[in-house]
Order: sequence, then C-alpha cells, then structure tokens
Amino acid sequence: MWNLDRKSSDLPETVRTAVLVSGGGSNLDAILSAQKAGHLGSAQVTLVISSRAGVKALEHAAAYQIPACVLERAKFSSEKEFQQAVLSALKAARIQLVCLAGYLRLLSPDIIAAFRGRILNIHPSLLPKFGGSGMYGHHVHAAVLKAEEPFSGCSVHVVDEEFDHGPVIASARVPVEKNDTPETLAARILEQEHQLYPKTIAAFSASLIGAPHD
Ligand code: GRF
Repeated sequence: MWNLDRKSSDLPETVRTAVLVSGGGSNLDAILSAQKAGHLGSAQVTLVISSRAGVKALEHAAAYQIPACVLERAKFSSEKEFQQAVLSALKAARIQLVCLAGYLRLLSPDIIAAFRGRILNIHPSLLPKFGGSGMYGHHVHAAVLKAEEPFSGCSVHVVDEEFDHGPVIASARVPVEKNDTPETLAARILEQEHQLYPKTIAAFSASLIGAPHD
C-alpha cells in the first residue's frame, strides 16, 4: 500500500555511505569501482574518512572524486575529541551507512549508537573464528595456518561495541593450501573480499531504503 502522505523527499533513492579506511584501501577501490559500474545498489559513497594521512586509500578516493578527509587521533588532545570529530563528519555529510574497510581505530560507543545496525565491517577470516582484539592483518592468517584450518575466508558483519563481534551477514570461503604463507593466503582472501564487500553493501543498502534515520 502506498503511503500517499509521504513527501517524495522522504523517500531517498540512495543510501549516503561513508567508507572509513586507514591504509591501502584496496576494498575502497573495489567498492568505488562497483559504484561506477552501477553495481553498488542504492549505496552511494559520498565520503571517505581516513585515520592516516598519505595512505593509498586517499588516492583511490581522489581518483573517483569522492570527498575525503583525514582525521588522525594524534591531532586531537583526547580520544573523546577525536571520536567526536569522526561523528561530526558523518553527521555533517548526512551519512546513512558506514562501511569500515581496513579502518584500524575502534569506533566509540557514541558512534555505534548513532548508527546502530548501519555500520558494516569486513574481516579476513570466517568469523567468529580468528576475530577479536589483536586479530588483524598478518596475525589472522598466521593463526589460521598455525591451527591447520582447511578453510579460511572473509566475513562481512554488522559492527557492535566488541571487535569483530556483530552478526555476520555474508561470507566467502577460501581453501587453505599446503604451501600457504600468511601472505599468499591473505592475497587470495583479499581477492574474495573485493567481490564480497561491494555485493554485500549493495544488498544491505536495499534494506535501508526508506528506513527512518535522524
Ligand atoms: C582487509 O583484509 C580487511 O579484511 C581488513 O583490513 C584489510 C584492509 O585492506 N579489515 P585494504 O586497506 O582494503 O586493502
């Protein structure tokens, strides 16, 4: 049933999306490439926030002419002020969906509360295995190899207050090979991340269309 009382301006066709990065930004690149090809569903990346200056992720944002800002913890006198600046940037850009893509800072409870259920992260393991504090980059893949797991992969999950903890909404499995090193395994998983994350953002954004948000 159509709600005829609703103004057309209340029915956004796009979901204004921010991508938060700290480094290489290959997932950001994959997301922006999907957006350009029209494969990001209703999500539209309108802001990139980097917690580090001079990183490759910022070059990807510039290549696609996406507004980007650098918010470094060291430039603020307290963690609270830093987190407040991130939240203000998201609000000023009227962001509706936040995607973490290699963002190495923990989000404050205030940010999580402001975007509850609208923050996604990609992690290079099959969560809940090999997630949590200290489980990033090389550490994840080294732990998978040490545990002699037959499979690893990547997971997209909704972010809550704990590291790598919220509900997993999509994953891709990658076989571990006999001669794998953390580097070779990471590279094969990253290829899968570049497929999985844009596809998942596209599907997830559809569920946010028309949903009320301040
Ligand atoms: C990826 O492996 C992602 O799963 C993890 O951080 C890495 C970021 O890589 N959260 P990139 O910066 O997107 O290249």
